[in-house]
Amino acid sequence: MRIAMIGGGYVGLVSAACFAEFGIEVAVVENSPERLSALQDGRIPIYEPGLDTLVASNMQAGRLSFGDDIAAAVRGAEAVFIAVGTPPRNGDGAADMQYVHAAAKQIAQALTGYAVIVTKSTVPTGTSRRIAGIIRETRPDADFDVASNPEFLREGSAIGDFMRPDRVIIGLDLDAPDRGARAESIMRRVYRPLSLIEAPLLFTGLETAELTKYASNSFLAMKISFINEMADLCDKLGANVHDLARGMGLDNRIGKKFLHPGPGYGGSCFPKDTLALSRIGQEAGSPCRLVETTVQLNDARKIGMAGRIIAACNGDIAGKTIAVLGLTFKPETDDMRESPSIPILHRLSEAGATLRVFDPVGHDTARPMLPPETIYCTDALDAATGADALVVLTEWNIFRAMSPTAIKKVMAGKIVVDLRNIFDPQAMKEAGMTYQSIGRPEKIRHT
Ligand code: NAD
Ligand code: UGA
Repeated sequence: MRIAMIGGGYVGLVSAACFAEFGIEVAVVENSPERLSALQDGRIPIYEPGLDTLVASNMQAGRLSFGDDIAAAVRGAEAVFIAVGTPPRNGDGAADMQYVHAAAKQIAQALTGYAVIVTKSTVPTGTSRRIAGIIRETRPDADFDVASNPEFLREGSAIGDFMRPDRVIIGLDLDAPDRGARAESIMRRVYRPLSLIEAPLLFTGLETAELTKYASNSFLAMKISFINEMADLCDKLGANVHDLARGMGLDNRIGKKFLHPGPGYGGSCFPKDTLALSRIGQEAGSPCRLVETTVQLNDARKIGMAGRIIAACNGDIAGKTIAVLGLTFKPETDDMRESPSIPILHRLSEAGATLRVFDPVGHDTARPMLPPETIYCTDALDAATGADALVVLTEWNIFRAMSPTAIKKVMAGKIVVDLRNIFDPQAMKEAGMTYQSIGRPEKIRHT
């Protein structure tokens, strides 16, 4: 079987490599010359654990190739996946569809025989039908179906998520004369290897599949905002947010995951997709008020975290040195998009602090987004050296293993603000640190 993937970014590249690993011949089309030449040279332009070896072995096996010739890639492909970006449109938060529409037009021009055109990008409801319209306008003779196959992988664990998904959603045109049967049979073949691990393949209509993606991301974002509010309440009332999350999560109807409090969610998707769903609801005359509120809460939370750090430093950080551990929006990625570190570090810098930062892989992506005076250090202890306060922003595993006494030894001050709750409060106290985390107040009430 042969397929084409339009877009070699996070989703396109991971999906293409995993499909190739399934034994499918995959031709990736990438229109950024820098990204393409890196890929053709076997260099991976993003940091994603395991991706380099997966790409290399499948290139070597002749199942995975990269190019910019869409006609060559589409020729003989039974499915053509669109995995281009859908960033927020300036001004109103709706998804910017220009890249998807351009890709649809290029695919139409390149089609030589029947293919199913599959949207993997996260797109507003109605996009698959719009793509069908663009293809028909461009090539009235084209023989094709459309399908929607939103992707649920997470950065940092993308390969595992793709290979062992909780579910695969495939939307088909249920209004087509054969109710999308031809497309269904191709999509079943594409995902056949997953039947061995009994991953559910859920077939729906096009609109349902498209909306399920936004609903899933928004629900997870809402869950995080909920636990963040509970953490703040725990701080006020002397309760422990981790015990609370466990107590809630053991109820299978709630579930344990995504109940870890922090400085607010970031990344390339939750912030953009919650905004886009808010916009979709408003345009449809059916506002999604919980999601709209989640957007506001999360924006305010990220900014508010700087205030929390300043308060921990007795209200004044002018002339002080603050060590920051972790810059990326989550561990195991170099992605800085919408990372809470961006607004937090800008505020701290404006308030007069000197910032000594360390992130295991994020320095290059962080540099253009952070205050220019930021000092990038060689490791976590180097960042802590001489600092008046230390702040944890991303929960990289190597930070968890740091000894509080070793931190104390190199710091000038003794304030630690742990916005990911990675350290043991008791161990910090014993080392003589003034330690603050989220939703774990020093005095838990036992009433
Ligand atoms: P990305 O920006 O990393 O990658 C998109 C790539 O497509 C870029 O390399 C770009 O150069 C290329 N491209 C754009 N137009 C093209 C064209 N006409 N021909 C060939 N190449 C073209 O974006 P991403 O993070 O991979 O996200 C893609 C989509 O997947 C978005 O809709 C996003 O919401 C969704 N998504 C992303 C993730 C994630 O973890 N990043 C997870 C699930 C879903
Ligand atoms: C998220 C979804 O989890 C994926 O299913 C989806 O495919 C993807 O968005 C997408 O559409 O792009 P991702 O953004 O890579 O994946 O990372 P997550 O692990 O979901 O984390 C997102 C943010 O939420 C991070 O800033 C993280 O620190 C934060 N988070 C997550 C918390 O604060 N608490 C939690 O309990 C979980």
